[in-house]
Amino acid sequence: MRPCDPLLHLERAFRAAISKVSGNDPASIDPQVKASADPRHGDFQCNAALGLAKALQAKPREIAERIAAAVDLHGLAETPEIAGPGFINIRLSTEALAGMLSDLDGPELGIAPAPLPHAVVVDLCGVNVAKQMHVGHLRATIIGDVVARLHERLGRKVWRENHLGDWGLPIAMTMASLRRQGRDFDRLTLEDLNTAYRAAQLEARTDEAGLAAALSTHAGPHRVAELQAQSDSAGAAERDAKATLLKLQAGDAATVRDWQRLIDVTMKEVLATARTLGVKLTAEHSRGESFYRDRLGPAVDAFLKAGLAKEDDAAIVVPFADRERPMLIRKGDGGFLYATTDLAAVRFRVQELDGGHVIYVVDARQRDHFKDVFDAIRLIGWDRLPDGSRAELSHLAFGSVLGKDKRPLKTRSGENYTLAALLDEAVHRGVEQVQRRAAEADAPTHGLSQAELHRIGAAVGIGAVKYADLSGDPVRDYVFDLDRMIAFEGDTGPYIQYAHARIASLIARSGESEPAIIGSAFHPVEPAERHLSLCLLRFPGVVLGAAEQLAPQRLCAALHELANAYAGFYQDCPVLKAPDAATRLARLRLSRLTRRVLAEGLGLLGIDAPERM
Ligand code: ARG
Repeated sequence: MRPCDPLLHLERAFRAAISKVSGNDPASIDPQVKASADPRHGDFQCNAALGLAKALQAKPREIAERIAAAVDLHGLAETPEIAGPGFINIRLSTEALAGMLSDLDGPELGIAPAPLPHAVVVDLCGVNVAKQMHVGHLRATIIGDVVARLHERLGRKVWRENHLGDWGLPIAMTMASLRRQGRDFDRLTLEDLNTAYRAAQLEARTDEAGLAAALSTHAGPHRVAELQAQSDSAGAAERDAKATLLKLQAGDAATVRDWQRLIDVTMKEVLATARTLGVKLTAEHSRGESFYRDRLGPAVDAFLKAGLAKEDDAAIVVPFADRERPMLIRKGDGGFLYATTDLAAVRFRVQELDGGHVIYVVDARQRDHFKDVFDAIRLIGWDRLPDGSRAELSHLAFGSVLGKDKRPLKTRSGENYTLAALLDEAVHRGVEQVQRRAAEADAPTHGLSQAELHRIGAAVGIGAVKYADLSGDPVRDYVFDLDRMIAFEGDTGPYIQYAHARIASLIARSGESEPAIIGSAFHPVEPAERHLSLCLLRFPGVVLGAAEQLAPQRLCAALHELANAYAGFYQDCPVLKAPDAATRLARLRLSRLTRRVLAEGLGLLGIDAPERM
């Protein structure tokens, strides 16, 4: 597949020219080509001359002239112009733009396969059994899904790992509490589990000092909970929970059966939410903490044997040379921890799943936890792949979802919002919005069935929530404001969906057949057509960049820019009332390609692109 990104062509040409002028090895040259901020200075600029002046002992402007004379642009661009102290301005030729647009308009939309020698592992979702999915898990699920989709689109093997919190004391606490209440485990709802979990937590007494220490680091709720549970003032409830945990660990049949029920009840809800969200997450992606239970003892032993762990007050810890905080991997009572499970999981993912890049899409508050885990893994060398190379371990940390009061999102009664309630509300608002528009006689949705309006409304509501979550820098907190998220104007999901649907309607209204449109030639000559074309041609590079940088927000920004560029084009360049038949078809083809790119981009974000809105 020929690359359709003009930047790649220009970089190659300028690298060669700069090499001729400077005598430097082309591989070592950064040609410094970038898109121009102002179209009056051309489409692109090469700024390399300025940096070469000293070494070549000549004025930058003179060097720029030499580079411009040496560069072979193969009909790619018009003769470059020198501006200011030595900038080289480049304007692509209409033919080159048209050619690259045709290349982009192929079945793959210009996205060349970029396979990797190893798999990519994405740790996503990570819900806990017996606890409602809350908004924090929204982020782990949808950001993780997009990261997975981006890598899959590039032809890479991706493992989606839902590291379900299905093992350990909190679950044993919940089970023990439900059993004490004499509950029928075949009739439990997630709400029951939730209530029992909270009640069990209240029963357990807390060790204030240990807790303060845990809260002062970014270790995350798990390690805090573990410290809470460590309290030596264990009451009867806690002794009961510990006994239940021992039975579970020993494989006691009745206990295992009850435990499995809790998992089933939780997973049913998680998978239903994943479906509502349009996230690719099914039962086969669950490999919970319990999966690693037999690997915890050996993991600790390996650390001890390697001399990397030591005993500390009956517990086993891994100390680090550069910080005081050691990582606890076995408690004094012999129990293992959240961290121990993650050590075993990295080992499994790298050595058995062949994960060359393991990406943890987890709350930023677990930053210190992952720093400890990754450092310990590197110390013991479990980041080594079967072929001897080293895996990359990344924590894609995300911030919190806040309410309008800038505090963690809570319901009016002060409860954590459950994800299900939040999504219901979003769908409701989307449907309302779509129904309101459909009532207008000239709306493309006028006359559609209620079922269809509902489908479109759900796509809008969910699209709004997902886009708002994905479009910012993941590490930043954001305010959950449905009014803003769901608007058809601004940097929102519905704005992009609407741009897509409007183009689909436009093409339908044109009365032109698909073959007539595809058979016509691109002819981007007007400034707005050229600007739109350049936005389109950036798409393959954006997808690659978003995958490599773990940055879905880049794709969001590019789609938003594309939708804006199309609005500008639509305003300046009549499509259905174009001056002649050839221009009409050329503009329809440009519109159609824009629609394709928007649909593909939304698809990578896991957002539906309705044909009508
Ligand atoms: N269950 C954890 C939580 O709710 C998240 C799990 C993240 N993944 C991991 N491998 N530690 O905080």
